Amino acid sequence: MIGIFDSGLGGMTVTRAIEQLCPGYPLLYFGDLIHTPYGPKSSEALTEYAIRNTEFLIAQGASLIVIACNSAASIAGNVLREKFSCPIIDVIEPAVNQAIVSSTNGTIGVIGTQATIKSDVYPQKILAKRPHYRVHSQACPLLVPLVEEGWLNRRETKTITKKYLQPLRCKQVDTLILGCTHYPMLKHVIRPRIGKRVKIIDSSTETALFLKNFLDKNPEIAKGLSSQKVTNRFFVSDLPAPTQSLAQSIFGRPVHLEKVHA
Ligand code: DGL
Repeated sequence: MIGIFDSGLGGMTVTRAIEQLCPGYPLLYFGDLIHTPYGPKSSEALTEYAIRNTEFLIAQGASLIVIACNSAASIAGNVLREKFSCPIIDVIEPAVNQAIVSSTNGTIGVIGTQATIKSDVYPQKILAKRPHYRVHSQACPLLVPLVEEGWLNRRETKTITKKYLQPLRCKQVDTLILGCTHYPMLKHVIRPRIGKRVKIIDSSTETALFLKNFLDKNPEIAKGLSSQKVTNRFFVSDLPAPTQSLAQSIFGRPVHLEKVHA
């Protein structure tokens, strides 16, 4: 089974893309809603949560992990790769690869949580591949709580998003990485505020494509995953009121969320 985790609902955007692009693989999702948001947390706390989430998914039968959370991946991705022997894929590399080929003026914007932006992981990875590029980063700490509250179309959300994107507009970025898996749920708010010519890189789609490519290249691993029964399960460490309906709106169908102590 493929185990996928995030701090909350954001990783479901990745899960949905994996369902669509890699059908036939059973998925286990874990949303650590009791600890959401991850963005403002310390590196120690994020690392502890990431290890615990991975252990939980492996105990449920996962043999490949997708870190569907930029905050956890940027802080704890390497720790998880050292600690666990199963393949671990994250959302950062796929988005970086797509952004560098999408940009024509070499000016890329990245939006993410405080943890992701502070880690500097996107500029470092982009500049390692394209040293002449310019990368402008912007932390957007209020967006995750707004999404988790279901405030996807509120005036306040639009105003706050505009304020966050203004500095990137001034820098004339031609490509914008959504460096948080919650942000695809705000694409309809981000698109008109960053400008219609800017290419938006959605790490959920890019990660699903990256995973598909990885499984194509590793048929033994793919075979081990697909030989099991396709029953997707969705676990959460807490179940606040808006969660169920938001999960349903991400998948376009009712999703049964199982509350667990991970
Ligand atoms: N969706 C996650 C990310 O990609 C976590 C956001 C948060 O909990 O702050 O960063």
